[in-house]
Amino acid sequence: MPPAVEQAMISKTLRELFLAANRVLVLTGAGVSAESGVPTFRGGGQSAVWKGLPFEVISSAAMLERDLPAVWEWFNYRRNLLVQLRPNAAHTTIASWQDRFSDLSLVTQNIDGLHQAAGSRDVIELHGNVWRARCFDCDARYSLDDLSRDEAVPSCFDCGGNLRPDVVLFGEMLPPGAFERAADAAQRCELCFIVGTSAVVYPAASIPEIARGNGAYLVEVNPERTQLSDLCDEVLMGKAGEVLPLLRR
Ligand code: OAD
Repeated sequence: MPPAVEQAMISKTLRELFLAANRVLVLTGAGVSAESGVPTFRGGGQSAVWKGLPFEVISSAAMLERDLPAVWEWFNYRRNLLVQLRPNAAHTTIASWQDRFSDLSLVTQNIDGLHQAAGSRDVIELHGNVWRARCFDCDARYSLDDLSRDEAVPSCFDCGGNLRPDVVLFGEMLPPGAFERAADAAQRCELCFIVGTSAVVYPAASIPEIARGNGAYLVEVNPERTQLSDLCDEVLMGKAGEVLPLLRR
C-alpha cells in the first residue's frame, strides 16, 4: 500500500528545484489517464483482449495488411469509450505548468488526446493520436471529426487512398522526429518527471535515462515501483492526480 499522499512526501530539494527550474520535461504513460477511466496496459488494465484478439495482434502492423476494416472497428470501439472521458487533475496540473516554466516539454506515450483536452500545447506524441487518421499513400493527416463514420475504411480527400488510424502499432516505427524531439528535451532538462508509465517500452523508456545522463533530477510519480525507480532521485508513490497538484510554484 503506498503511503497517504501529502505535502510531506515531497523533499526540500524537489521543492526548491521546482521553484528554480526553467527546463522541465514530463514523460507520461497510461497511468496519467487512469483516474479519467482509461485502462492501463499492464497491472490489471482491461485493454488486453478484443473480440478474442489479443491487444498486440489487433493493434499490429500485420493486422493493417490482413484486415484493415477490423483495425478501424477496433479503434472506433476505443474512441467510443474515450469520448466520454475527461482530463483529470494530473492532466490539468501538467497543462498549468506550461505557463510557469519557460521551457516545458511534455512527451506522452498516450494516444487518448487528454493532455490536449486539458490545454497542453505542442505535446510530443510518441505513439500517435487516436483522434487522427492518415493516408497510406500520401501521408495526409485528418482529424476524425472531418471524416465520415459510415465507411468501414475512410478514404483520403486528396488522393483517394485508404486511411488508417494515426497511431503507432506493434511492429511499427515511431513517427518521424518524435523521439528526436523528446531526446533533445531530455538532454537539456534540469528536472524530469516520469508519470504513470511502467517504463518497459522502448525507446520511450530511454528518455529518462538520457535526462539522467545529462544531470537532470529525476522524479517518478506512480503508485507502484517500476524498473526506472532505482534510477530516480525521488519516487513519489501515489496517484498522479493526487501527487502532482501538491507541487507548487
Ligand atoms: P502501462 O500500462 O505499462 O503502465 C501504466 C503505469 O501507470 C503502471 O506503472 C501503473 O502502476 C501506473 N499507474 C496506474 N494508475 C496510476 C495513477 N493513478 N497515477 C500514476 N500512475 C498510475 O502503460 P505505459 O507505460 O504507458 O504502446 O505503456 C507503454 C506503452 O505500452 C503504451 O504506450 C502502449 C503499450 O504497448 C503502444 O500501444 C505502441
